[in-house]
Amino acid sequence: MIVTIDGPAGSGKSTAARGLAKRLGFEFLDTGAMYRCVACGVLQKNVDPADEQAVTHVSQQIKITFSGDRVLLDGEDVSAAIRTPDVTDAASVVAQYPAVRQELVRLQQRAAEGVDIVSEGRDQGTVVFPDAFCKVFLIADPEERARRRHEELVAQGKQITLEAILQQINERDQRDEQRTVAPLKPADDAVEINTSRLTIDEVIDQLEQLVRSRI
Ligand code: C5P
Repeated sequence: MIVTIDGPAGSGKSTAARGLAKRLGFEFLDTGAMYRCVACGVLQKNVDPADEQAVTHVSQQIKITFSGDRVLLDGEDVSAAIRTPDVTDAASVVAQYPAVRQELVRLQQRAAEGVDIVSEGRDQGTVVFPDAFCKVFLIADPEERARRRHEELVAQGKQITLEAILQQINERDQRDEQRTVAPLKPADDAVEINTSRLTIDEVIDQLEQLVRSRI
């Protein structure tokens, strides 16, 4: 059984998908972390994210592994490194390249073989798992998404203004929505949930109800 959860940055996808997987006893796949790993590898190797051919080469060379809630890049724990603003920005650049997506989609489909899984990203319901039995698209107002991200970063001791985050989120959404390959959009059969005025527990409750009503 495959549940897909897609949506823009800061819509609450990751936390909700992780919480849902836990309640259902399903595996959890954070596909954004995979694009972030490619971006991290690219920056570590001093490759220009704008160089499609070189980035594609990196995506084919690196090894991405999940170990519990840690993310490993060629065996090195990059769980924190992939969340920096530079990597975040570069991730949505490298995610535009068809050959990079092809490589990661293959890994994502392989991760779902023979297991029940909640897979979270931008194209999980549209491209990667078109036959998933339950598809969700989470949205939230841009101001609310920026507020959440700001709260997260401040808690980590980072100094950044709300306005700067709002601008980054808008730029990233625009790149994700406007790219030609697998743009961010809901699948025709996805259930859309606006999380702006919901707590994370309320979101997970709604998701759990939805999935259980279909099992
Ligand atoms: O979800 P997260 O913010 O970690 O994703 C980082 C970036 O990876 C996104 O901005 C998007 O460009 C890309 N991404 C994607 N397809 C996915 C997951 C993430 O293009 N399935």
